[in-house]
Parts: sequence; C-alpha cells; structure tokens
Amino acid sequence: MNTTVLSYPQRGVGGDPKWRGNHSPLLSHDLFLWLKPQQILDPMCGSGTTGDVAKDMGIACWQNDLHSGFNILRDELPLMGDLVFFHDPYHDIIQYSGNVWGKTPHPDDLSRCPDYETFLKRMDIAHYNGYQALRPGGHLVILTGDVKRKGALYPLQRDYRWFGDPVQMLIKLQHNVWSNGQTYSSMTDPRIMHEYVIVTRKPKQFASAWMVTVRRSELLNTDQREVGIQTWHGIVWTALLALGNRGSLNDIYEQVKDHARVRKLETSGTDWKAIVRRVLQETCQSVERGVWALPQYVN
Ligand SMILES: C[S@@+](CC[C@H](N)C(=O)[O-])C[C@H]1O[C@@H](n2cnc3c(N)ncnc32)[C@H](O)[C@@H]1O
Repeated sequence: MNTTVLSYPQRGVGGDPKWRGNHSPLLSHDLFLWLKPQQILDPMCGSGTTGDVAKDMGIACWQNDLHSGFNILRDELPLMGDLVFFHDPYHDIIQYSGNVWGKTPHPDDLSRCPDYETFLKRMDIAHYNGYQALRPGGHLVILTGDVKRKGALYPLQRDYRWFGDPVQMLIKLQHNVWSNGQTYSSMTDPRIMHEYVIVTRKPKQFASAWMVTVRRSELLNTDQREVGIQTWHGIVWTALLALGNRGSLNDIYEQVKDHARVRKLETSGTDWKAIVRRVLQETCQSVERGVWALPQYVN
C-alpha cells in the first residue's frame, strides 16, 4: 500500500461477489501486507472475504456474523487478535436479515436500526467490543462510507466514535456502486464514489490498559447571541435574516441588544448602535426609508 487512495477496478478472488455489500479481497490483501497481523478477527464477515484472503496468505483468522448466530452487540469475541476488521452496514442502505439472509428481520441486525442515531450508538458498541479483543499495538480497521438521503449527508466515518490512537484514514474508490438502495436528492448531486478505511491502534503500553482514547464528533445547536466572536457583519446579517430579511433600525437593535458582543460594549460605554448602522450602510440596502434588507446579488 503506497498511497492513501485505494482503487481496485478488478475485485479479486475471495468471499462472494454476489453478496450484497461485499468488499474487495484486494483491500484485505493490501491491509494485511501493510499491518502484518498474525491473528485477524472479523465479527461481521458477510460472505467471508476476510477469512478467504487470510487463508490464502497463511494468517490465522476468526470470523463470524449474525447470519451464523454471532451477535457483535451481545456475544463475546472468543479470542484476542492484532487486527479486528469491521465492514459495517451503511446504516439501512442494504438490509441484511430477512432480505440478504434469513426469513425474518433480526432485532439486533445493525442494518435495521430504526434511525441514524440508534445506528451510531449500536455501531459504537460493536466497535468498542471489537477494541476489547485487540492486543496492545493491534489495529482496529473499519471500512465504511457516507450515506446521502433527501439532500442530507450522513457522514458515518465522522459520526462514529474512534477508539484508540488514529493511524491512518484511507480513501477507497468504488467501482461497482449499488444499483439501488441509495437515494439521491437530485440528479445534479455528485454520486458518492468512495469509501473510507479508518485505522486506529490500541497503545502498546500495558500500564495504561484501562485507559482508552475516544474521539467523537458532537452536534451543537448554538444560539449565536451567546457567541462572543461572531463578526459584526454576521451579527447584523443574522438579525436581518431573523426578521425575514426586512427590518427597521429599531427592529434590528432589538434583535441584537442581548448579543454577547453588544453586552460587552455596553459595559465599556461604547456606542454599539453606531457599529450596527455602519454595517447596514456598508453591506445592506435600504428598501424604503429607514427599512433595511440584505442586498440583492449583482452579477
Ligand atoms: C457490509 S456486510 C459485510 C460484507 C463482507 N465484508 C463481505 O465481503 O462479504 C455487513 C454484515 O454485518 C452483519 N451484521 C449486521 N448486524 C450484525 C450483528 N449484530 N452482529 C454480527 N454481524 C452483524 C450482516 O449480516 C452483514 O453480513
């Protein structure tokens, strides 16, 4: 593996190319050559691609899947390894139980979570369980992708918790994109043609074995009136937006009077209204006497 961009136009041999959502054996091959594992675990192995490549390369591998009775959310991984590989469902793009395998949906099928938040929570548990089975210095490898639905992006790799020390983020180009399942908001949206391989490592130090580094992203809904670094342009423009893009000077003063920056200036006796007027004059337009709006775009 020479670069962080991986591309396998030919799938390679191993696993089942007809298994929906299978991964390329060439990816496993390159990962194993790079990370040199001696014992691999794949607790969500699908058609068994990981195990087939490991066998070809003479590496010990334990693999299992919900379809064969192993549930990563409830069952214990039976042994430790130095590479735990996850190829997760991409939320519910492809539903497995009762569809790809079995006759009925399984309640712990990670491809059948009721919503994105539940999916993330359960995937975090699955990855954490995988992390438990890593030997010190071993790698947790997660193959995942983004989901785009009705114009909204669900960036799985960003929203997952990452356990251990980050080692590498690889981009894997996709050549055989699923023909259905993925919903595009419009024909003009770019098609997702890549996946991610997140590689983290369990630290080597035995002494800190109880400690785990967890990286997570956070969704914050912030009232910008509490943000002391919002720019003055931002403050005035946002006030106009909050007023439906039409407001008198007094309306705009009223909108911003409790803003953190305004309160700060008030305590020092600075004329914040003069700043508001200057921003309006320099960047907005007067639509009628004393009434302001954001300017039209001018080509
Ligand atoms: C993307 S597929 C893996 C495909 C595999 N890499 C291959 O090449 O065939 C994800 C797999 O996760 C399995 N799965 C879903 N929920 C699970 C759970 N709770 N425990 C174990 N496996 C689960 C599904 O049955 C499915 O086979």
